[in-house]
Amino acid sequence: MQRIRLTLEGRKDSSYDLLIGRGILSSLHREIQRLGSFSFYGLVTDEVVRPLVAEPLLEELKSYGIKTALFTLPAGEATKTMDTVVDLCHELTTLSFDRKSLLIAVGGGVIGDITGFAAAIYMRGIRYIQVPTTLLAQVDSAIGGKTGVDLPSGKNLLGAFHQPLLVLADPDVLGTLPPDAMRDGFAEIIKSALIGQPKLFSILEMEGANLLNADNPMLENIIADACSVKCRVVSQDELEAGLRRILNFGHTLGHALEAASNYKISHGHAVAAGMGAAVQFSRQWAGLTSDEADRALSLIRKLGLPTELPADVDVNSLLVALERDKKIQAGICHFVLISKIGQAIIHPISVEDLRQSLTQIQGFRDSGIQGFQ
Ligand code: GLY
Repeated sequence: MQRIRLTLEGRKDSSYDLLIGRGILSSLHREIQRLGSFSFYGLVTDEVVRPLVAEPLLEELKSYGIKTALFTLPAGEATKTMDTVVDLCHELTTLSFDRKSLLIAVGGGVIGDITGFAAAIYMRGIRYIQVPTTLLAQVDSAIGGKTGVDLPSGKNLLGAFHQPLLVLADPDVLGTLPPDAMRDGFAEIIKSALIGQPKLFSILEMEGANLLNADNPMLENIIADACSVKCRVVSQDELEAGLRRILNFGHTLGHALEAASNYKISHGHAVAAGMGAAVQFSRQWAGLTSDEADRALSLIRKLGLPTELPADVDVNSLLVALERDKKIQAGICHFVLISKIGQAIIHPISVEDLRQSLTQIQGFRDSGIQGFQ
């Protein structure tokens, strides 16, 4: 088991632990008791995770005298709305939840974001803990306190920074995930390695596709390494005033791709393709050597993820999505690039340079040549 402390600069009282380990979920009752006593406990999950993880956990908590109400939401991004949060808060009032109550999010990113947001606004803020059950949530969305819901006009447009009291990540729960969901998680792990952990990058390179097997004994350390990169960044810039933006490596184009594809491309796969382009830009504008760029692209592919923009998404629709997402301001788009493996920088790129580069990347893809020469 690994314990990582996320220490928030200037807010030591809001610092918290991430516990990562196989079987760690069986310590949930102990960890909750260590956090103090609460008036009411509520576990929020979705209908897919409920029988697999939430119900056994609920029974276990009950056997230790922690009586916990269960709230089950429909699975999927469509649930991430303000209506869901209002309904959930309404149920909390019906059960007399007050400011001393605790919510426990058991699920992937959608459940974590909804629960965290409900906790941020219910009675002006109550406490919650994160029990992420997807790889992507374990290494990214459950950490750092970004919570929120979508609007018809865009994802995560309503939200709040609200840090959990604890994050409990158990690799044993990943066994039931479909392979594509494991790959989605690896997109964020590769991102962490590229922006801040050369050692993790080498391990990923060595292990390659073996890591997609949820039983792989290396997985626990790999999750912990990726989490420490995120913790290091968040601890210095909780509210994304500067440094935290490096966590968006691959995400600028990734988000544009998700939007341009009408969310048919999953987050991790879109981020992987976005990282593919960001690696090419890094070679062009940030001094990344061709050797390191090739290693980065080949690692992304080894994990079964795309490095290229899909053929049916044209450059113009990506630029329109970037505009709509307010990523282009005064003709400039700020990209996270890497100057070497493990070292991120923010670099301004003009729309015209961006258009040219993207067109060139698409051209290479169509001609079968891999990347820039
Ligand atoms: N997923 C990016 C962040 O938490 O800042």
